[in-house]
Formats: sequence, structure tokens, C-alpha cells
Amino acid sequence: MNQKKIQYDWPSGRGDKWCEHLVCMEAMLQAVDTPLIEALSLDTPCRVAEIGCGGGGTTQALRAQAPKGSVIHGFDISKTLVEAARARTQYDDLLFEHADVSTKRHSQAPYDRLVSRFGVMFFKEPLVAFSNLRTWLREGGTFAFAVWGAPSENVWAKMVRDVVDEVLGLAPSVPDSPGPFRYADVDAFVSLLEEAGFSDVTHRSWRGALPVGGGFVAEEAARFALSSFSSFRELLDDAGADVYARAHHTLTERFAPYERDGIVRIDALVHLVTGAVS
Ligand SMILES: C[S@@+](CC[C@H](N)C(=O)[O-])C[C@H]1O[C@@H](n2cnc3c(N)ncnc32)[C@H](O)[C@@H]1O
Repeated sequence: MNQKKIQYDWPSGRGDKWCEHLVCMEAMLQAVDTPLIEALSLDTPCRVAEIGCGGGGTTQALRAQAPKGSVIHGFDISKTLVEAARARTQYDDLLFEHADVSTKRHSQAPYDRLVSRFGVMFFKEPLVAFSNLRTWLREGGTFAFAVWGAPSENVWAKMVRDVVDEVLGLAPSVPDSPGPFRYADVDAFVSLLEEAGFSDVTHRSWRGALPVGGGFVAEEAARFALSSFSSFRELLDDAGADVYARAHHTLTERFAPYERDGIVRIDALVHLVTGAVS
């Protein structure tokens, strides 16, 4: 059994790695932007804060869809990703800031909307973080957060973890610790947000088939997934080239049935959680 714990060190290693695979990651996740931005109801010019904006793919989609006169402000704890986001855009109404949103204070509630695509599952102290984020929203302001559903419903991720587990033997994931599936139990997430002071918290599901890496054949998709998801590549490299080769071969075989017209697309479930400050 490999007891190395998977760490989500976004300010350094994990953030740098996300940046390295940014174009493919964003191409894979882009489909989630449409339902997420719809859930945000951008009906009048407004000030929007994006939590964990990464390289700014969603930030740009928000700018494109928000009414004229809106200001979009992306925050991320990874300096590398904030610099990448800035380098990709040059609009006065699109701002990026390097900050830990769980502790960053504002002197007055400056935003009409809070939004996040998969950027709220990694806080060390979630109640402290969400209670702080509540103070970012003015009274009557609303939020929309996208978080992953259960691994069993997110076959794109489960298959990759299963293969790495088969070749290495991974330590089981610790429930309620930082990680992509932390809020798979969406009712518990709703309760947490209510405890943090948000009101009218509700959720709906989005299901779709995501193109792994944005549009690869099985062999490339397997290489992308093992290199970019979690810390699988580091664990596999520690175990030696033949172990990596075995994992890549097995994952390619499992991805192959999902390949159509040269693109591997695999089922995903996302919870879209919305609410307000009243
Ligand atoms: C899974 S990535 C998603 C990035 C981007 N939203 C996207 O969908 O492409 C999670 C992001 O949340 C950021 N993040 C994690 N904890 C954070 C914190 N406490 N404050 C600000 N950003 C944070 C990470 O640096 C990372 O960019």
C-alpha cells in the first residue's frame, strides 16, 4: 500500500501543474461555464468575484456574457495562475488578484455576485472561508458554485484513480478533506453554506460528457489524465517507468470504448449550488 497522501498544494506544486496543462484543462471543463453562468443570472451590470479563477477561462466567459458596465474580478491563491490569467487578457473591466479568499477581508461588501467553477473545495477551514466569503456579497447579492458530484458519477476521474490504485495501491481518500469530491454530498454542502450565513441555498444537477483533455484519442487522453490529474504522475514516476507504462496501457484500454470520432468523452455530474445574502 502506497501511503503517500495526495496533497492539493495550490500555491505551489499543484498550481504550477494546472498552469502547465491549462489549455487542455480549460477545454475539458468549458462546458460547465454555460449552466454555471446561467445560474448566476447576470441580468444587470454588476460586480462579480470569481473564487479560485485559475488561468481565467471562466473569467473571460463571464466578461463575454455579463451586461456592459460589469466588472469581473478573479481571485486565486496560485501566483503562477494569476500571472497566466493576466497575461491572457487585457481588459480594464477584468481584474485578477493573487489572494487566499478564505481569509482575505474587504472593508465593505463589494460584490453583487460570487461565482466559482471547482475553486471552493480546497479550503483548510471551510466554515471560516465561507463565512468570510459571505461578507464579500452585498445584501441581495447571489452566488453560484460548481462542485463535482460523487466519483461514481464522474467516471472520467474514477477510472483514472482506479487504474493508479490498481498499479500502486493508493491510501483511501479521507472524507471531508480538501479535494475535488469533497462536496459530492451536496446536502451537507448546502448545510455548510447555510451555517456560514447564506440564505435560499439550493442546488441542481448538470450532467454531460466531458472531452478528456479537450479532445484526444484514447492513448493521448490517458497520457494527459495521468500527467495532470491529482498527484498521480509524481506517484507513478516514483514507482518507476514500467509502472507508469502499465498504468498508461490499462487506462488507454479503458478509455478506448469512449472514443468517438477521435475524441474521448466521459460522463460527469456537477452540482450547481446557488444562494444569496439577505
Ligand atoms: C480545480 S482548480 C479550478 C480553476 C478554475 N476555476 C477552472 O475551473 O479552470 C481550483 C482553483 O482554486 C484555487 N484555490 C484553491 N484554494 C484557494 C484559496 N484559498 N484562495 C484562492 N484560490 C484558491 C486554486 O489555486 C485553483 O486555481
